[in-house]
Amino acid sequence: MKNASGESFAKIILIGEHAVVYGQPAIALPVKSIRLTASLTTNTEQIIQSSFYAGSLHAAAGTNFAGIADLISALLKHFNASNQGFTLTIDSALPPERGMGSSAACATAVVRAFYAAFDEPLSRAQLLSWTATSEHAIHGNPSGLDAATTSADRPQWFVKGQPPIPIQFPKNGTLVIADTGIAGQTKVAVGAVAQHLTDDPTATTASIEAIGQATVFAAKALAEDDLQALGTQMDHAQGQLKALGVSNDALNRLIATAKENGALGAKLTGSGQGGCMIALAFDATQATQIRDALTQAGATATWQYDFSDERTN
Ligand code: MEV
Repeated sequence: MKNASGESFAKIILIGEHAVVYGQPAIALPVKSIRLTASLTTNTEQIIQSSFYAGSLHAAAGTNFAGIADLISALLKHFNASNQGFTLTIDSALPPERGMGSSAACATAVVRAFYAAFDEPLSRAQLLSWTATSEHAIHGNPSGLDAATTSADRPQWFVKGQPPIPIQFPKNGTLVIADTGIAGQTKVAVGAVAQHLTDDPTATTASIEAIGQATVFAAKALAEDDLQALGTQMDHAQGQLKALGVSNDALNRLIATAKENGALGAKLTGSGQGGCMIALAFDATQATQIRDALTQAGATATWQYDFSDERTN
């Protein structure tokens, strides 16, 4: 094994969360300004250093790092190196449990670091297969969207079980991302929607299909550079996410503030029940105004993402 590192990005779901678990499409984007790095150096013991967990690999069982620890053990087995000593240092700018794909980003960077350390080429399909295993252990029933986006370098159109398709974003438009400061657990939120589906299959299926429809219209709006129409579809999706029970007071307050301050559309992003919301602004100037209003309304952190950063031409 040689010293090596792997990298991944935060992800933001523009539209389609939760419905994507049931086969509907979603659109998500990697936020390259918010990164996670996993660095491996050789050592005599097997040590993890991170803000999520610090200690030996074998003592991680039963902690919130257990899913990633199992992934590391499986990687070591794959490289016939179960007794290899190492220090794995994880540096993350992603807030955990805020809908930014922290666990998927961590798994992605760890897999990349181990493949680089053992000098083995890693295909995208292999990477997604490794991260699917750890995301299943951590989240129960993931669509694969988080792992596909944290490892991507372009916005993605995603349908569960199919290879993600890169999509083009408009020339203009800025997303404001704001953190409620409240942790939201994907497993719990996905479980709540599953419970809704059991309790009220007709209404829940209608909400899931309506989110899928909004995602199709959002893709059309993106292709036509129509920010107004994109904002409308974000609002539609938020209405359905509320009906599914995954929004909460803190999210609703920030979403209302963004709309009062001129956002074209605003919704939760990720699994909800806390975590982050997004608001669409015409441009960076309007985004700054919305961002300031969100901070005043209690957002604990805000970020900005200009669509122009993602264009290939
Ligand atoms: C979580 O970031 C997104 C969800 O749709 C779950 C998933 O797709 O696995 C809520």
